[in-house]
Amino acid sequence: MAVSLNKVLGFVILLIISSCSTETKQYNFVEDVAPIIFENCSSCHHKGGAAPFAMVKYHDVAKRAKMIAHVTSSGYMPPWPADTDYSHFIGEKTLSEKEITILNDWYLHGVAPGDTLGFANYNFVDVIRQGIGEPDLVLKMNKPFFIPGDNKDRFMVAKFPFTIASDTNIRLVEFVPDNKQLVHHVNAHLLTYQETKDSHLLQVPFVNSEDHTDSSAFYALNIPYENGGFPILNPSIANYLPGVEPFIYPEGIGGARISKQSALLVKDFHFGPSPKDDWDDSYFNIYFDKEKPKRPLKELIIGTQGVSPVSPPLLIAPNIVKEFGSEYTLPEAISVLTLNPHMHLIGKEFKAFAVLPLGDTIPLIKIKDWNFRWQYFYTFPQIIHLPKGTIIKVEALFDNTLNNMDNPFNPPQFIMGRNGSMKTTDEMLQLIITYLPYQIGDELIKLDSNE
Ligand code: HEC
Repeated sequence: MAVSLNKVLGFVILLIISSCSTETKQYNFVEDVAPIIFENCSSCHHKGGAAPFAMVKYHDVAKRAKMIAHVTSSGYMPPWPADTDYSHFIGEKTLSEKEITILNDWYLHGVAPGDTLGFANYNFVDVIRQGIGEPDLVLKMNKPFFIPGDNKDRFMVAKFPFTIASDTNIRLVEFVPDNKQLVHHVNAHLLTYQETKDSHLLQVPFVNSEDHTDSSAFYALNIPYENGGFPILNPSIANYLPGVEPFIYPEGIGGARISKQSALLVKDFHFGPSPKDDWDDSYFNIYFDKEKPKRPLKELIIGTQGVSPVSPPLLIAPNIVKEFGSEYTLPEAISVLTLNPHMHLIGKEFKAFAVLPLGDTIPLIKIKDWNFRWQYFYTFPQIIHLPKGTIIKVEALFDNTLNNMDNPFNPPQFIMGRNGSMKTTDEMLQLIITYLPYQIGDELIKLDSNE
């Protein structure tokens, strides 16, 4: 009897201990919440950042704890479309189940601050200024871009022409957004003119890409020479997406040579909707280099306007969900640096992978829920070598029903991939690959400077 009483007592004590230990830990801001927020949210959510409010101090985060718990458990924030079970990229922003639970419990248990005395708040680090200092050339528009307050997205093509005393090597072009709430994504190329172009400077640097279903936008911007020829184009010299930390490839990779007459061509200049009249005065910083560009970046486009067609042709009937694809066999070995999947509003899922000549498959990127607003450039932590004869395959799903919240038409309309059309209501399917011609040992090059 005594034994069993002891046993019962022991059991009760055990119960008490175990119920204490399973009692959720009282999470606090300093130890538990701040590391999650600073790592995944504050690059956008800081003063002057892309997001509408800051999350750098206890108070900023505590007063929104409920909304934070909500948007993180729904997966709405942080925005990171690429599936991290499929492949990995630099600067990934995703929360683990555990982190989501911490944010939620912290909210439910009254947002404990922890020991905030002497706690270092998030401090935005300017990677470029830290890495290479001040720019050698600042390229501004001749007047700010006007954004009427009509709550509409704007998709522009822009040209920033400039002249310099002599041909020069450059290390980097940096896009500096002015109106961070409205400037959405930017993708810029470098144009270098080998002969003089008389009417180079433009009064109107912007045209609306929605007005052009073909390459006429480039003529409207007065890009070709008088004889109709086009200048040399260096692809993707600068990209920008709110909250994506600026990125510099390691020494020796990238860079370009600019001629006396050059220009930056912004092929995608996306301004988000604004409820009031507003202006944007974004600009570019150019950083010179003593070194000649050793390995300038190259670009391969698979799909629309690229090296391999979309198949079947991109034609999507109303109320249809349909798969399309494109595949390309590499004629030479390449070293892959960065991927940029691109579709418009009807696009829903995107997947790309590479099948090596010996049959192995290398996953490149998978996006399960395509979101037109988050057009990332995804850089691999380490160069990926794809040998000659590799087949790169792109598979995508397009949803032209009303289940697709982004469908621009109600009722749904016939959607086409008119080759060369920049209208957002026409479709595109592209995988844009930034690469270098392969050199032995490339696969050992780490691109992530934090590693
Ligand atoms: C890449 C930039 C970026 C990152 C990273 C980011 N946000 Fe946001 N966030 C935004 C932008 C832009 C908005 C406003 C537009 C929108 O709601 O889509 C926003 C809006 C929000 C909102 C308001 C939502 C609403 O319905 O009004 C909350 C809450 C939020 N973010 C929380 C977070 C949290 C928590 C994290 C990190 C776990 C995070 N965000 C990471 C850019 C970002």
